[in-house]
Amino acid sequence: MLDYQPASDLLNNNVILVTGAGDGIGRQAALSYGAHGATVVLLGKTVKKLEAVYDELLAQGSPEPAIIPLDLTGATKQNYQDMAATLRQQFGRLDGVLFNAGQLGALGPFEMIGEDEWDKVMQVNVKSQFLMTQALLPLLKDSKPASIVFTSSGVGKQGRAYWGSYAISKFATEGMMQVLAAELDGSGVRANCINPGATRTHMRARAFPAEAPSSLRTPADIMGPYLYLMGNDSLEVNGQSIDAQPDRIPGQTSQN
Ligand SMILES: NC(=O)c1ccc[n+]([C@@H]2O[C@H](COP(=O)([O-])OP(=O)(O)OC[C@H]3O[C@@H](n4cnc5c(N)ncnc54)[C@H](OP(=O)(O)O)[C@@H]3O)[C@@H](O)[C@H]2O)c1
Repeated sequence: MLDYQPASDLLNNNVILVTGAGDGIGRQAALSYGAHGATVVLLGKTVKKLEAVYDELLAQGSPEPAIIPLDLTGATKQNYQDMAATLRQQFGRLDGVLFNAGQLGALGPFEMIGEDEWDKVMQVNVKSQFLMTQALLPLLKDSKPASIVFTSSGVGKQGRAYWGSYAISKFATEGMMQVLAAELDGSGVRANCINPGATRTHMRARAFPAEAPSSLRTPADIMGPYLYLMGNDSLEVNGQSIDAQPDRIPGQTSQN
């Protein structure tokens, strides 16, 4: 999947929402989707970062993107419904969503997980996706074929000591994808997960501060599955959880 070679016009005329589009993997996914013809809707917390990605998209000749500044920590059901209405009004369609924004939270013993910390991680990593999916499904169904891509993790498939609420939130993400995919089967809207594997980003550096970043693939190196799941080459793929880096075996190398 890492060597997937998409057509240069894979996402022409598609409108794709990317959460956490200002940094790390989300930033690269936004640039890659734009480079393959998509109009990208950049959702994130830090406006400056979103504006920088907006400028990069224009500079590389991609369709003009849109920015949705939103902190998922405090966002409400109404915020997502308003967002869906704005997207319908502005673009009339939504062909794909990449749920990528995530918080690592505090790593440490289960007994020490604070309630506030738990709530914050679950709010950003799980509840925001639940509410956003509910709000966006009518638009996605009207635009079918459409693709919903969730972001999982190695610790969302095999629990690991001290990964606390983050790991549990990723199990929930896998579960949400499976429930949704089963319900959507045959509807023209598909839902799948990507586990990016160890990737050179700020989140990874925070989880593994002693690790040499040069030992890791960059977000640009892992875009194959992100493009595959968003474009029409994956029309028959639903309910799958794809490892972007299957060559990095959990247990032999540390992954998050
Ligand atoms: N990197 C890895 O090795 C790895 C491995 C497995 C899974 N993942 C998953 O891959 C996804 C991307 O991770 P990454 O490594 O690219 O992380 P990152 O560099 O920390 O980027 C995370 C992005 O999410 C946004 N975000 C965080 N909290 C938010 C909030 N409350 N509201 C809106 N946006 C918010 C951030 O925005 P700001 O920059 O504005 O804060 C940032 O753009 C995450 O779901 C992560 O769990 C990563």
